[in-house]
This record gives sequence, structure tokens and C-alpha cells, in this order.
Amino acid sequence: MRSHLLNDTTAELYRSSVSEGVERVAAKLATTTRPFTGVTPDALAPTIDAVDLDRPLHDTIAVLDELEDVYLRDAVYFHHPRYLAHLNCPVVIPAVLGEAILSAVNSSLDTWDQSAGGTLIERKLIDWTAGRIGLGPAADGVFTSGGSQSNLQALLLARQEAKTEDLAKLRIFASEVSHFSVKKSATLLGLDAKAVVSVPVDKDKRMQTVVLAAELERCREDGLVPMAVVATAGTTDFGSIDPLPEIAELCAQYSTWMHVDAAYGCGLLVSPKNRDRLTGIERADSVTVDYHKSFFQPVSSSAVLVRDGATLRHATYHAEYLNPRRTVAERIPNQVDKSLQTTRRFDALKLWMTLRVMGADGIGNLFDEVCDLAREGWELLAADPRFDVVVEPSLSTLVYRYIPAAVTDPAEIDRANLYARKALFASGDAVVAGTKVGERQYLKFTLLNPETTLADISAVLDLIAGHAEQYLGESLDRAS
Ligand SMILES: Cc1ncc(COP(=O)(O)O)c(C=O)c1O
Repeated sequence: MRSHLLNDTTAELYRSSVSEGVERVAAKLATTTRPFTGVTPDALAPTIDAVDLDRPLHDTIAVLDELEDVYLRDAVYFHHPRYLAHLNCPVVIPAVLGEAILSAVNSSLDTWDQSAGGTLIERKLIDWTAGRIGLGPAADGVFTSGGSQSNLQALLLARQEAKTEDLAKLRIFASEVSHFSVKKSATLLGLDAKAVVSVPVDKDKRMQTVVLAAELERCREDGLVPMAVVATAGTTDFGSIDPLPEIAELCAQYSTWMHVDAAYGCGLLVSPKNRDRLTGIERADSVTVDYHKSFFQPVSSSAVLVRDGATLRHATYHAEYLNPRRTVAERIPNQVDKSLQTTRRFDALKLWMTLRVMGADGIGNLFDEVCDLAREGWELLAADPRFDVVVEPSLSTLVYRYIPAAVTDPAEIDRANLYARKALFASGDAVVAGTKVGERQYLKFTLLNPETTLADISAVLDLIAGHAEQYLGESLDRAS
């Protein structure tokens, strides 16, 4: 069994095994004609159940053959131009190469003695990102597993910096369409069940700062403490960007921590055309960026950045075996002092490879392309009487609903849209997402693939209309 350990004696097996795996994926990518096969859990489960994990095949080729059945054939392929659903991007090749390298070398980014150059590479990328945001000379940060963890860490720092130790008094203000990780973080941080104050949004799904101001004032009058305002730069459902300059003003006025959740909108940091949409982000105390959403990086790749690096001390604990206090005096750099994690992947390498091969503009241009596509898609939808489209896109998301001329019952229209989404998924022809606007059921495109064309969007809309019509026709039959 030692022959499977990756070391000096097995370099050749490593090369051939990985090449064979790469070969299979490359063949799959080249021949995949739909983003999904439409397989159901019931249909796939027996194939996976049939695998006896206590009876290994002892043969990489045989396992790759088996993988075709248990995974590769039915995986959801984000690289396909008709995958239009969630915030998953197609990935760039330099980052995939980085992924292969980082898992083989397997550095752990907690301490210098487990990563050496990796520590410095991550630090340089953190400085680079903080520079793009404009956080100033004391900024710092750390890579995390994703936006949820970045938001949690930012809010942990905000809680520790708040002007009371009475957790019951702390309040966080976030828009009603902010990501649910804000509420989850509040729970994890031991805050009151009412700690997250939901601020309404305007017609463009941006936080209403007039209401935020009133809520902050009310908080003060009630003897409570505003711990943080979470501004979202790219909401999950609409891609809307909260008014960052106004929110920054209010945070300054109420001495409140400003966190910007730019998990989605961070792609604008490298945009040659649209960087100005993030104006005001430079005033944040902390920022979440998900490179695995709009920098075309494989999962996972995220970071939390802070204006004042000293605040990261709230995540610092010392262990004799790992990061004893004396290493601080010895000026040996480590990242574990800044992180919620201990053992941690060298995800930064993927971004490093990407920037070194493609450059920041290369990534930004790709993101600009999908933002342009969303605008064209919005015009297409707005001109199509079969659809109602909400919110002109600030990023690359379109939320719309099929509205048949002959049907007036909104609940029936909800059902037709839900049916259309499911039927489309089952066909595998395209994958779209859904959400609610008010009480009504809508459909959603999250456009992150520059290979998607307006013709793809138009074709998928026709498919949706067809499925919805079929549902309504059958529903009429049922009624008569
Ligand atoms: C605005 C926003 N914040 C945070 C997150 C959570 O990020 P992750 O899924 O990487 O944990 C998401 C995920 O979609 C998001 O859209």
C-alpha cells in the first residue's frame, strides 16, 4: 500500500494517475452537451449505494471508470453556457493548475513551518486585495473557506470591538435581502435572537438608508448598541449594491463597524469598466470577498479584509505546539493568528497563478462581459410581454417571471413558474434558479459565464415559456 503514498519513489505513478484523471475530465468537458443529465436522486442513489467501500478496486483506472457512473456523468457542469442558476462560476485554467499543485504539495497555511513561501504569497495577495479596495496602510486579512466564514469572522471582530460586553444589547443592521450568513453569524456569536435588524430595500433592492438612519437612532434611544452595519455589494438574489457612501457616513456618525459583504460584487475590484460601482467600499472596517464567485476561481477561495490589522488579534490564541508567543518576538510570520481555522488550504495559490498568467484586467474583463450580458438580457426580458423582469442589473443577475396573458391568478402563475424551473432541470437542457419577490415566485439567472450568449438566454426563456404553457394547459385539463 505504500506505493500509493506520494513521494520520491512514486512520482511516476503520480504523474500517470493525475494525467489519466485530467484526461477523463477533459474528455467530459469536450463532449458535454447539457449542463445536467436531469438524473433524480432516486435514480442515482442505487448506483452509489451499490459501491462497497470495504472492497477497494485496487486499480486507479477501474476507479475512474466507476467514477464516471457515480459522479462525472451526472455532475452539474458550471462551465456549460446554459448553467445559469447559482453563484457558481466557470473556472480559469491557471487556477485549476494551482489547485492541482496546492493539493499535491499540501502546504498548510497556519504556520511558517508548514508553508514557508505559501505564507508570504497569501500575505501578498491579501495586501493586493486590500489595495484594490483602498483600505489603507494598516489593512490586513486572511483567506477563508467562503463568504459565510468571512462574514462570521468580520462580525466576530465587530462584536469584540463593540462598546459593550453585554451581548444582549448588540444590534446588527443588514438589508432584508442580505445573505443569511449574517443571521447565522449572529447566532454563532451568542447574540440576541432579535440582534439582526432587517432594513427594508427600495425598488432596486438597495438598503433604504433613510430607514437605516432611523433604526440606528432608535437603537441609541433604546439604550442598545449598534455593533455593525452590513452593507451588501452584490446581493445574492438581485446583485444589487447597497449605497455604500451613505452607509459609511451613518457608520461614522454612530461609531459603528461597517462591514461590506462583497462576496459577489468583488469582481468589480478588477473591472476595467465598472469599478466605480463599488465607490465607498474603501471606507469599510471589514470586507468579504469571494474569489470563487466573481474571480473565476474553483471553490474554495475567499478572504476577509480589515482596515485595521490589529483587530485580527481577536482571532488569536496561542498553543505551545503551534504558535507559541515567542514566535511573535522572533518575527516568524504565521497566518493562524489571524484565522478561525487552524489547518488551512493554500487556496491563495489559485489566485496567484491566475494573476500571474492572466493579470487582473483579464479577470475583470470576463466579469465585465457577464455584466454586459445581464444588461442585454434585461432589455430582452423587458421587451418580451411573456415576462415580468424586476431590478435593472448592477451586476450579472436577472430575476423574472413568466406571466401568461390568459391567466390572472397569481398563485397559478407561481405554480407555472415553479413547474417550469423543475421541468427545465429535469430535462437537463439548462439550469436556472428561483426566488421570491414579495410573496410571488420568480425565476433567476445568475450570469457568470462569458461563453453564455444572448441567444442562449433567449432560447432558455423559450424553453421556460414552453414548460409553463404545458403546465397551464394540463392544469386547464385537470379543471375541466
Ligand atoms: C452576498 C453573499 N454573501 C455571502 C455568501 C456566502 O458565501 P459562501 O457560499 O462562499 O459561504 C453568499 C453566497 O451566495 C452571498 O451571495
